[in-house]
Amino acid sequence: MKEKLARIEKDCLVKVNLAKSLKELDNIFLSLFGKNGEMTLLPKDFPKLSKDELRIAAPLFNKVKTELEKSIEDNRIGLREESYKKLESEELDLEQTVELPKRTGHLHPTTQFIQETVELFKKIGFQEFEAPQIDTDEYNFELLNIPKNHPARDLWDTLYINNKTASNKTNGLLLRTHTSNAQIRIMKQLKLPIRMMSIGRCFRYENLDTRHEHTFEQFELVYVDKGLNMANLQYLSEYFIRAMIGKDIKARLRPKYYPFVEPGFGIDAECVFCKGKGCQVCGGIGWLEIGGAGMIHPQVLKNGGIDPNAYSGIAWGPGLGRMMMLRYGINDIRSFLSGDLRFLEKF
Ligand code: PHE
Repeated sequence: MKEKLARIEKDCLVKVNLAKSLKELDNIFLSLFGKNGEMTLLPKDFPKLSKDELRIAAPLFNKVKTELEKSIEDNRIGLREESYKKLESEELDLEQTVELPKRTGHLHPTTQFIQETVELFKKIGFQEFEAPQIDTDEYNFELLNIPKNHPARDLWDTLYINNKTASNKTNGLLLRTHTSNAQIRIMKQLKLPIRMMSIGRCFRYENLDTRHEHTFEQFELVYVDKGLNMANLQYLSEYFIRAMIGKDIKARLRPKYYPFVEPGFGIDAECVFCKGKGCQVCGGIGWLEIGGAGMIHPQVLKNGGIDPNAYSGIAWGPGLGRMMMLRYGINDIRSFLSGDLRFLEKF
């Protein structure tokens, strides 16, 4: 017992003197006086001792116990004081200013793309026209040959604004589903021949995924003159795709139905990832659709106050998001509106 106490005492004093933190001291204390600590368990051996042995061991035990407790406590106080002194010597200067590296912002990639597109088409004589984002059913659909209840409405998942007016009728407003809502306004308001472009946000009630977003940018051209034909349309597509995606990227027109054009087309760009061979991105087709186009329907020209026997028109409307995805190799259209700096700072 005597030897055991002497060993505990020696070991403990060495450890306590080496301890550099309160936590270490706490651990030493627990290893001695905790539930299963060496000093806690020691008295359990007292009944095994003879009376004479006990007469020596018991006071010795108390002495070592007090000594160890005191040594731990003294070191605690010492460590605490040291840390207070360190705090005092650390000066905190609240007036000190730190020069952080300057962060300069830049235009959103979509805005940059829009500006580039506008410049490109200004060069060949197109001017900008602004149409409302909240519009009437008439301009977004009816005057474009899409009457109420016509099945073609299913092509656009529309967000209607159904506020009741004073006369208890719905106000017939909606969030425009395409920039084609500019077509009739352009035809009615401007003198012939017309070369206009209208760019802006459109909205659809979409199931969101990597290629569908509820809010997106469209780019509409309305070109009305004598003798226009599909060759002009093909030229515009090639001009746009070559300048904005890549010189060697081909454009093609594929027959497609839109009620306000006849004939109507899907504008396809050759897939940049496989150069037309067919890959996962283009679903093995080799081409990716960037939007719709066509020769303006005679009835729509009439609705815009233009004689379809004298003039013909081109309407042309790609989505800018799709174009940007191709140009920069972006695989999720939702990145554009995410506000995620990790994405935005790449441009
Ligand atoms: N506005 C059509 C759409 O959003 C695209 C289009 C524009 C089609 C012009 C023909 C002519 O789907």
